[in-house]
Amino acid sequence: MLNRSFTPFPILITERLVLRQLVISDEQEIFTLRSDSEINKYLNRQVSNTIEDARNFINKVNENINKNDSLYWAITLGDKNILVGTICLFGFSDENSKCEIGYELLTNFQGQGIMKEAAEKVIDYAFNTIKVQKIEAFLHRDNQSSIKLLDKFSFRNSNEPDKTNPELICYHLTNSIDNLK
Ligand SMILES: CC(C)(COP(=O)(O)OP(=O)(O)OC[C@H]1O[C@@H](n2cnc3c(N)ncnc32)[C@H](O)[C@@H]1OP(=O)(O)O)[C@@H](O)C(=O)NCCC(=O)NCCS
Repeated sequence: MLNRSFTPFPILITERLVLRQLVISDEQEIFTLRSDSEINKYLNRQVSNTIEDARNFINKVNENINKNDSLYWAITLGDKNILVGTICLFGFSDENSKCEIGYELLTNFQGQGIMKEAAEKVIDYAFNTIKVQKIEAFLHRDNQSSIKLLDKFSFRNSNEPDKTNPELICYHLTNSIDNLK
């Protein structure tokens, strides 16, 4: 059984970052993340067309956290409480002891190692606190920056094309001693 108890919300801290829960005042940054064409180029999801869409999205995310269905962190830079990206764990399966990971950064904050730093902490949390044995990432096969990030953690291509969308590939990482190196 997975240790899925997300209240109080698990704030995670790294050298440069604070990963905290989304709040309504993040709506402008969430709107940008979910409407910017560059960020959404390889993402097959409903975009935000208005600030209200972004606000509804934040509320939905926090409802799912309250139900222990998923975790969604705002990535902020140290003492500056401004959101620069998000990272989430979702699609938990108690039966298969696994979950999925998703992530995104505002364009101005890409290329600085911010997601690597955030993902390292979140992967550690998934394996060592929630106790999943496997983390999966579904991504567009041309999403090179995402593949590059997953490579850094030794995620492997599952080589199982998605039946509903042949452009999607699945990468996975299993919990092993190697991940602690
Ligand atoms: C996927 C995504 C989060 C990757 O962001 P990123 O900033 O490239 O990722 P990282 O945090 O690993 O940073 C790596 C880059 O920072 C550079 N860097 C600078 N300072 C660094 C530091 N202190 N530590 C590590 N890397 C550093 C690295 O050299 C690397 O640059 P490169 O790509 O030119 O080689 C980003 O491209 C994104 O948001 N894409 C849109 C959303 C998306 O597709 N999400 C994935 C869904 S599956």
